[in-house]
Amino acid sequence: MIESMTSIIDAPSTSSGGHRDPGTSAAVAEHARPRPHEVRLDTVGRSFPAPGGRQVVLREVDLSVVPGEIVAVVGPSGCGKSTLLRLIAGLDRPSAGEIRIGDSPLRGTDPRTAVAFQEPRLLPWRTLEHNVALGLPRGTGKRAGRERVRELLQLVGLEHAATQRPREVSGGMAQRASLARALARSPEVLLLDEPFGALDALTRLRMQDLLLEIHAAEPTTVLVVTHDVEEALYLADRVLLLRSLREDPTSGSIARTVEVPGVRPRDRADRSLADLRVELLAGLGVHSPSTPTASAPTPSAPSASTPTEIPS
Ligand SMILES: Nc1ncnc2c1ncn2[C@@H]1O[C@H](COP(=O)(O)OP(=O)(O)O)[C@@H](O)[C@H]1O
Ligand SMILES: [Mg+2]
Repeated sequence: MIESMTSIIDAPSTSSGGHRDPGTSAAVAEHARPRPHEVRLDTVGRSFPAPGGRQVVLREVDLSVVPGEIVAVVGPSGCGKSTLLRLIAGLDRPSAGEIRIGDSPLRGTDPRTAVAFQEPRLLPWRTLEHNVALGLPRGTGKRAGRERVRELLQLVGLEHAATQRPREVSGGMAQRASLARALARSPEVLLLDEPFGALDALTRLRMQDLLLEIHAAEPTTVLVVTHDVEEALYLADRVLLLRSLREDPTSGSIARTVEVPGVRPRDRADRSLADLRVELLAGLGVHSPSTPTASAPTPSAPSASTPTEIPS
Protein backbone atom coordinates (compact mmCIF):
# COMPACT_ATOMS: atom_id res chain seq x y z
CA MET A 1 0.00 0.00 0.00
CA ILE A 2 2.95 2.24 0.22
CA GLU A 3 3.31 4.62 -2.58
CA SER A 4 5.77 7.39 -2.72
CA MET A 5 5.64 10.83 -4.13
CA THR A 6 8.42 13.17 -4.64
CA SER A 7 9.77 15.78 -6.88
CA ILE A 8 8.15 17.64 -9.68
CA ILE A 9 10.21 19.23 -12.30
CA ASP A 10 8.63 20.23 -15.61
CA ALA A 11 5.19 20.57 -14.06
CA PRO A 12 2.90 21.55 -16.92
CA SER A 13 1.12 24.87 -17.00
CA THR A 14 -2.24 23.15 -16.61
CA SER A 15 -1.23 21.87 -13.22
CA SER A 16 0.84 24.74 -11.97
CA GLY A 17 -1.27 27.81 -12.03
CA GLY A 18 -4.28 26.83 -10.02
CA HIS A 19 -6.38 26.43 -13.19
CA ARG A 20 -7.35 22.86 -13.81
CA ASP A 21 -7.94 21.66 -17.30
CA PRO A 22 -11.74 21.36 -17.51
CA GLY A 23 -11.32 18.02 -19.27
CA THR A 24 -9.36 16.78 -16.29
CA SER A 25 -12.01 17.88 -13.81
CA ALA A 26 -14.68 16.11 -15.78
CA ALA A 27 -12.64 12.95 -15.94
CA VAL A 28 -12.11 12.99 -12.20
CA ALA A 29 -15.73 13.83 -11.45
CA GLU A 30 -16.85 10.77 -13.39
CA HIS A 31 -14.76 8.54 -11.19
CA ALA A 32 -16.36 7.28 -8.00
CA ARG A 33 -15.10 9.71 -5.38
CA PRO A 34 -13.57 8.48 -2.18
CA ARG A 35 -15.45 9.08 1.02
CA PRO A 36 -12.88 10.73 3.24
CA HIS A 37 -12.66 9.42 6.76
CA GLU A 38 -11.86 10.97 10.08
CA VAL A 39 -8.46 10.11 11.48
CA ARG A 40 -8.57 10.04 15.25
CA LEU A 41 -5.75 9.62 17.73
CA ASP A 42 -6.48 9.17 21.43
CA THR A 43 -3.57 9.73 23.82
CA VAL A 44 -1.20 8.06 21.39
CA GLY A 45 2.37 7.53 22.51
CA ARG A 46 5.39 5.79 21.02
CA SER A 47 8.63 4.91 22.69
CA PHE A 48 11.56 2.86 21.49
CA PRO A 49 14.12 0.76 23.36
CA ALA A 50 17.19 2.84 24.07
CA PRO A 51 20.36 2.32 26.07
CA GLY A 52 19.38 2.49 29.72
CA GLY A 53 15.62 2.43 29.16
CA ARG A 54 13.22 3.69 26.52
CA GLN A 55 13.25 6.81 24.41
CA VAL A 56 9.84 8.43 24.42
CA VAL A 57 9.35 9.96 21.00
CA LEU A 58 5.63 10.73 21.03
CA ARG A 59 3.46 11.36 24.06
CA GLU A 60 -0.22 11.99 24.58
CA VAL A 61 -1.08 12.85 21.02
CA ASP A 62 -4.79 13.67 20.82
CA LEU A 63 -5.89 14.56 17.35
CA SER A 64 -8.96 14.45 15.17
CA VAL A 65 -8.48 15.16 11.49
CA VAL A 66 -11.96 15.63 10.12
CA PRO A 67 -12.96 14.12 6.77
CA GLY A 68 -11.51 16.08 3.91
CA GLU A 69 -9.33 18.24 6.12
CA ILE A 70 -5.68 18.96 5.35
CA VAL A 71 -3.49 19.02 8.43
CA ALA A 72 0.19 19.91 8.21
CA VAL A 73 2.67 18.69 10.79
CA VAL A 74 5.80 20.70 11.52
CA GLY A 75 8.38 20.35 14.23
CA PRO A 76 12.11 20.16 14.88
CA SER A 77 14.16 17.36 13.41
CA GLY A 78 13.73 14.12 15.32
CA CYS A 79 10.59 15.19 17.18
CA GLY A 80 8.60 12.26 15.81
CA LYS A 81 6.84 13.57 12.68
CA SER A 82 7.65 10.53 10.56
CA THR A 83 6.95 8.26 13.51
CA LEU A 84 3.49 9.83 13.78
CA LEU A 85 2.80 9.28 10.09
CA ARG A 86 4.04 5.68 10.22
CA LEU A 87 1.69 5.02 13.12
CA ILE A 88 -1.28 6.42 11.23
CA ALA A 89 -0.23 4.44 8.15
CA GLY A 90 -0.32 1.30 10.27
CA LEU A 91 3.36 0.63 9.55
CA ASP A 92 4.11 0.84 13.26
CA ARG A 93 2.04 0.32 16.40
CA PRO A 94 1.64 2.86 19.19
CA SER A 95 3.05 2.02 22.62
CA ALA A 96 0.02 3.75 24.15
CA GLY A 97 -3.37 4.98 23.04
CA GLU A 98 -5.47 4.17 20.01
CA ILE A 99 -5.74 5.27 16.40
CA ARG A 100 -9.01 5.04 14.47
CA ILE A 101 -9.75 5.61 10.82
CA GLY A 102 -13.44 6.19 10.41
CA ASP A 103 -15.16 3.83 12.84
CA SER A 104 -12.50 1.17 12.91
CA PRO A 105 -9.50 0.95 15.22
CA LEU A 106 -6.30 0.65 13.23
CA ARG A 107 -4.82 -2.85 13.30
CA GLY A 108 -2.09 -2.58 10.68
CA THR A 109 -1.94 -1.14 7.21
CA ASP A 110 -5.31 -0.11 5.84
CA PRO A 111 -6.36 -0.30 2.19
CA ARG A 112 -8.11 3.05 2.56
CA THR A 113 -4.82 4.79 3.25
CA ALA A 114 -2.00 5.74 0.87
CA VAL A 115 1.38 7.03 1.93
CA ALA A 116 3.93 8.98 -0.05
CA PHE A 117 7.46 9.63 1.03
CA GLN A 118 10.11 11.94 -0.25
CA GLU A 119 11.72 9.66 -2.80
CA PRO A 120 9.92 8.10 -5.77
CA ARG A 121 9.90 4.31 -5.80
CA LEU A 122 8.87 3.54 -9.33
CA LEU A 123 9.75 0.21 -10.88
CA PRO A 124 12.41 1.17 -13.43
CA TRP A 125 11.48 -1.53 -15.94
CA ARG A 126 7.82 -0.52 -16.05
CA THR A 127 6.31 2.34 -18.00
CA LEU A 128 4.78 5.23 -16.08
CA GLU A 129 1.27 3.97 -16.84
CA HIS A 130 2.16 0.54 -15.52
CA ASN A 131 3.67 2.03 -12.40
CA VAL A 132 0.51 4.04 -11.79
CA ALA A 133 -1.61 0.93 -12.39
CA LEU A 134 0.25 -0.80 -9.54
CA GLY A 135 -1.64 1.47 -7.16
CA LEU A 136 -5.09 0.39 -8.36
CA PRO A 137 -7.20 -1.46 -5.81
CA ARG A 138 -7.16 -5.23 -6.12
CA GLY A 139 -9.91 -6.54 -8.34
CA THR A 140 -10.11 -3.46 -10.58
CA GLY A 141 -11.33 -4.52 -14.00
CA LYS A 142 -8.98 -4.13 -16.95
CA ARG A 143 -11.02 -1.51 -18.71
CA ALA A 144 -11.87 0.50 -15.58
CA GLY A 145 -8.21 0.34 -14.55
CA ARG A 146 -7.02 1.62 -17.88
CA GLU A 147 -9.49 4.49 -17.72
CA ARG A 148 -8.51 5.38 -14.16
CA VAL A 149 -4.80 5.38 -15.02
CA ARG A 150 -5.50 7.62 -17.99
CA GLU A 151 -7.43 10.05 -15.76
CA LEU A 152 -4.67 10.14 -13.18
CA LEU A 153 -1.92 10.68 -15.72
CA GLN A 154 -3.99 13.53 -17.10
CA LEU A 155 -4.50 14.93 -13.61
CA VAL A 156 -0.76 15.09 -12.95
CA GLY A 157 0.02 16.23 -16.49
CA LEU A 158 1.75 13.08 -17.68
CA GLU A 159 -0.59 11.77 -20.33
CA HIS A 160 2.07 12.42 -22.96
CA ALA A 161 4.63 10.31 -21.08
CA ALA A 162 2.45 7.28 -20.30
CA THR A 163 4.62 4.81 -22.16
CA GLN A 164 7.97 6.14 -21.00
CA ARG A 165 10.06 4.46 -18.33
CA PRO A 166 11.23 6.25 -15.18
CA ARG A 167 14.80 6.64 -16.44
CA GLU A 168 13.51 8.37 -19.55
CA VAL A 169 11.71 11.15 -17.67
CA SER A 170 12.79 13.94 -15.34
CA GLY A 171 12.85 13.47 -11.58
CA GLY A 172 9.82 15.72 -11.33
CA MET A 173 7.85 13.68 -13.79
CA ALA A 174 8.75 10.53 -11.91
CA GLN A 175 7.50 12.16 -8.78
CA ARG A 176 4.21 13.07 -10.36
CA ALA A 177 3.83 9.49 -11.55
CA SER A 178 4.49 8.41 -8.02
CA LEU A 179 1.76 10.73 -6.76
CA ALA A 180 -0.63 9.36 -9.36
CA ARG A 181 0.16 5.85 -8.14
CA ALA A 182 -0.63 6.82 -4.56
CA LEU A 183 -3.93 8.29 -5.76
CA ALA A 184 -4.84 5.29 -7.91
CA ARG A 185 -6.61 3.56 -5.07
CA SER A 186 -8.67 6.71 -4.40
CA PRO A 187 -7.34 6.77 -0.86
CA GLU A 188 -9.63 8.06 1.81
CA VAL A 189 -6.62 9.08 3.86
CA LEU A 190 -3.49 10.42 2.19
CA LEU A 191 -0.33 10.62 4.30
CA LEU A 192 2.57 12.63 2.90
CA ASP A 193 5.98 12.74 4.55
CA GLU A 194 7.90 15.76 3.27
CA PRO A 195 6.67 15.07 -0.24
CA PHE A 196 8.25 18.13 -1.80
CA GLY A 197 11.32 18.28 0.40
CA ALA A 198 13.81 17.48 -2.36
CA LEU A 199 12.43 19.93 -4.89
CA ASP A 200 13.69 23.26 -6.07
CA ALA A 201 11.63 26.22 -4.90
CA LEU A 202 9.61 26.82 -8.07
CA THR A 203 8.81 23.17 -8.59
CA ARG A 204 7.72 22.92 -5.00
CA LEU A 205 5.23 25.76 -5.44
CA ARG A 206 3.82 24.04 -8.52
CA MET A 207 3.50 20.78 -6.65
CA GLN A 208 1.68 22.46 -3.81
CA ASP A 209 -0.88 23.78 -6.28
CA LEU A 210 -1.14 20.37 -7.91
CA LEU A 211 -1.82 18.77 -4.54
CA LEU A 212 -4.55 21.33 -3.81
CA GLU A 213 -6.11 20.75 -7.22
CA ILE A 214 -6.14 17.03 -6.59
CA HIS A 215 -7.60 17.55 -3.14
CA ALA A 216 -10.32 19.77 -4.58
CA ALA A 217 -11.15 17.12 -7.16
CA GLU A 218 -10.90 14.18 -4.76
CA PRO A 219 -11.20 15.55 -1.22
CA THR A 220 -9.35 12.99 0.85
CA THR A 221 -8.29 13.47 4.44
CA VAL A 222 -4.67 14.59 4.27
CA LEU A 223 -1.84 14.68 6.79
CA VAL A 224 1.31 16.24 5.40
CA VAL A 225 4.62 16.51 7.19
CA THR A 226 6.73 19.39 5.99
CA HIS A 227 9.79 21.28 7.12
CA ASP A 228 8.57 24.39 5.34
CA VAL A 229 6.33 26.55 7.53
CA GLU A 230 5.12 28.57 4.55
CA GLU A 231 4.14 25.40 2.74
CA ALA A 232 2.23 24.24 5.81
CA LEU A 233 0.30 27.50 5.93
CA TYR A 234 -0.44 27.46 2.21
CA LEU A 235 -1.72 23.90 2.14
CA ALA A 236 -3.37 23.21 5.44
CA ASP A 237 -6.55 23.96 7.33
CA ARG A 238 -4.61 23.41 10.52
CA VAL A 239 -0.95 23.22 11.39
CA LEU A 240 0.27 21.05 14.24
CA LEU A 241 3.51 22.05 15.83
CA LEU A 242 5.24 19.14 17.51
CA ARG A 243 7.86 19.58 20.20
CA SER A 244 10.92 17.48 20.76
CA LEU A 245 10.51 15.43 23.91
CA ARG A 246 14.28 15.29 24.26
CA GLU A 247 14.12 18.88 25.43
CA ASP A 248 10.80 18.65 27.21
CA PRO A 249 10.34 15.03 28.31
CA THR A 250 7.25 15.51 30.46
CA SER A 251 5.00 17.35 28.00
CA GLY A 252 2.66 16.10 25.34
CA SER A 253 4.03 16.08 21.81
CA ILE A 254 1.65 18.66 20.37
CA ALA A 255 3.08 22.01 21.33
CA ARG A 256 0.51 23.99 19.45
CA THR A 257 -2.30 23.82 16.93
CA VAL A 258 -2.77 26.72 14.56
CA GLU A 259 -5.97 27.19 12.56
CA VAL A 260 -5.16 28.70 9.20
CA PRO A 261 -7.67 31.39 8.21
CA GLY A 262 -9.24 31.81 4.79
CA VAL A 263 -10.12 29.40 2.05
CA ARG A 264 -7.90 27.74 -0.49
CA PRO A 265 -6.33 28.65 -2.79
CA ARG A 266 -4.74 31.12 -0.43
CA ASP A 267 -2.89 34.25 -1.33
CA ARG A 268 0.76 33.50 -0.63
CA ALA A 269 1.25 37.18 0.18
CA ASP A 270 -1.58 37.24 2.73
CA ARG A 271 -0.43 39.32 5.69
CA SER A 272 -2.22 37.16 8.25
CA LEU A 273 -0.31 34.13 6.96
CA ALA A 274 2.92 36.07 7.36
CA ASP A 275 2.06 36.68 11.00
CA LEU A 276 1.25 33.03 11.55
CA ARG A 277 4.52 32.12 9.89
CA VAL A 278 6.42 34.24 12.37
CA GLU A 279 4.40 32.67 15.20
CA LEU A 280 5.13 29.13 14.05
CA LEU A 281 8.79 29.85 13.46
CA ALA A 282 8.97 31.29 16.96
CA GLY A 283 7.43 28.06 18.22
CA LEU A 284 10.24 26.26 16.44
CA GLY A 285 12.81 28.44 18.14
CA VAL A 286 13.47 30.71 15.16
CA HIS A 287 12.84 34.25 16.31
CA SER A 288 12.65 37.30 14.11
CA PRO A 289 13.74 40.70 15.44
CA SER A 290 10.10 41.76 15.58
CA THR A 291 9.22 38.96 18.00
CA PRO A 292 11.66 39.38 20.86
CA THR A 293 11.78 36.61 23.40
CA ALA A 294 12.62 36.60 27.09
CA SER A 295 16.08 35.36 26.26
CA ALA A 296 18.64 37.72 24.82
CA PRO A 297 18.74 37.78 21.03
CA THR A 298 21.58 35.80 19.56
CA PRO A 299 23.99 37.33 17.08
CA SER A 300 22.57 35.01 14.42
CA ALA A 301 18.98 36.14 14.97
CA PRO A 302 17.31 35.89 11.57
CA SER A 303 16.02 38.86 9.66
CA ALA A 304 12.62 39.31 8.03
CA SER A 305 14.00 37.50 5.01
CA THR A 306 14.73 34.41 7.05
CA PRO A 307 14.03 31.25 5.09
CA THR A 308 10.86 29.58 6.25
CA GLU A 309 12.40 26.14 6.32
CA ILE A 310 13.55 24.44 9.44
CA PRO A 311 16.17 21.74 9.50
CA SER A 312 14.56 18.36 9.04
N1 LIG B 1 12.13 2.03 14.77
C1 LIG B 1 12.79 2.87 15.57
N2 LIG B 1 13.60 2.41 16.54
C2 LIG B 1 14.25 3.25 17.38
N3 LIG B 1 14.14 4.58 17.32
C3 LIG B 1 13.35 5.10 16.38
C4 LIG B 1 12.62 4.28 15.45
N4 LIG B 1 11.90 5.08 14.64
C5 LIG B 1 12.16 6.34 15.02
N5 LIG B 1 13.03 6.35 16.06
C6 LIG B 1 13.52 7.55 16.74
O1 LIG B 1 12.46 8.42 16.93
C7 LIG B 1 12.90 9.76 16.85
C8 LIG B 1 12.02 10.53 15.93
O2 LIG B 1 12.23 10.10 14.61
P1 LIG B 1 11.37 10.65 13.39
O3 LIG B 1 9.95 10.37 13.64
O4 LIG B 1 11.97 10.08 12.16
O5 LIG B 1 11.64 12.21 13.48
P2 LIG B 1 11.26 13.39 12.47
O6 LIG B 1 10.53 12.78 11.32
O7 LIG B 1 10.45 14.35 13.26
O8 LIG B 1 12.56 14.00 12.06
C9 LIG B 1 14.36 9.72 16.42
O9 LIG B 1 15.16 9.89 17.56
C10 LIG B 1 14.51 8.32 15.88
O10 LIG B 1 15.80 7.85 16.05
MG1 LIG C 1 10.94 12.62 9.24
